[in-house]
Amino acid sequence: MKFKVTVVGGGNVGATTAQRVFEKGYADVVLVDIVEDMPQGKALDMLSSGPVIGTDAQIIGSNTYDETANSDVVVITAGIARRPGMSRDDLLMTNMKIVGSVTKEVAKRSPKAVLIVVSNPLDAMVQHAYKISGFPKERVVGMAGILDTARFRTFLAQELGVSVTNVSAFVLGGHGDTMVPLIGSTTVGGVPVSKLIESTRLEEIVQRTRDGGAEIVKLLKTGSAYYAPSAAAAQMVEAILLDRKEILPCAAYLEGEYGINGLYAGVPVKLGAGGVEDIIEVELTKSEAAALKASASSVQELVNVMAKA
Ligand code: LAC
Repeated sequence: MKFKVTVVGGGNVGATTAQRVFEKGYADVVLVDIVEDMPQGKALDMLSSGPVIGTDAQIIGSNTYDETANSDVVVITAGIARRPGMSRDDLLMTNMKIVGSVTKEVAKRSPKAVLIVVSNPLDAMVQHAYKISGFPKERVVGMAGILDTARFRTFLAQELGVSVTNVSAFVLGGHGDTMVPLIGSTTVGGVPVSKLIESTRLEEIVQRTRDGGAEIVKLLKTGSAYYAPSAAAAQMVEAILLDRKEILPCAAYLEGEYGINGLYAGVPVKLGAGGVEDIIEVELTKSEAAALKASASSVQELVNVMAKA
């Protein structure tokens, strides 16, 4: 029996995530969007690629939610994307309404699913989905850390002329200007990165990572990144469906871990069939711990704004 995955939002991030999951062949996919006929068209197009790719998975598009019933994983990408000059936080109130109503629809039809939230501002949106769904914290998780870490690893590998697979790194904290790359535990072929790149250059690479999303928004002009975000979301889907128990940086609900309470923040988690099966507490330097707290408090500010709405 194949798994069932719903992707809500048929825009670039959602459609590309649906494509990546469909191409793996282990899950049937439902792509939902409010735009009439659009998800059906994209799904039919993807389905027709099956014979070429060699997958017998099914994919359908829908403008309603009944087809999503009993999904194993639901990926929420719905919402508006950034335009040049906008911060992720500018999307807060619009996307809060969208993510809230989507969560309500999917949670009642797939009460056992793991929800992966991708919509921005990420940490606030996943917190909202957690509240609206009523799901246990293990089954509501946000995608950001894998993306931010992938950007960091890409830039480090480019700098050093080595394979991206040799760069091991973690970017924690909120998905925003306050994200926290863990320099102390970043290694290249086992060698600490601070021994390979001098500190001012390393700081530039960290800054480019922080601005990684904005750099792409500026180039695309009409939307934000989607190839790397969808790759990250698909990796999370796979870790859950295949119960890989993979340790990945994700936005998880913290209750005291890292000194943060009652709030989503990007931390390393063990992702498996149960969703967030464990939160891994890596040792942080004093400045990293302080940066993580500062990042969490900027997420808290957004949560407070939502609470007043
Ligand atoms: C980015 C957006 C999707 O980082 O948040 O590209």
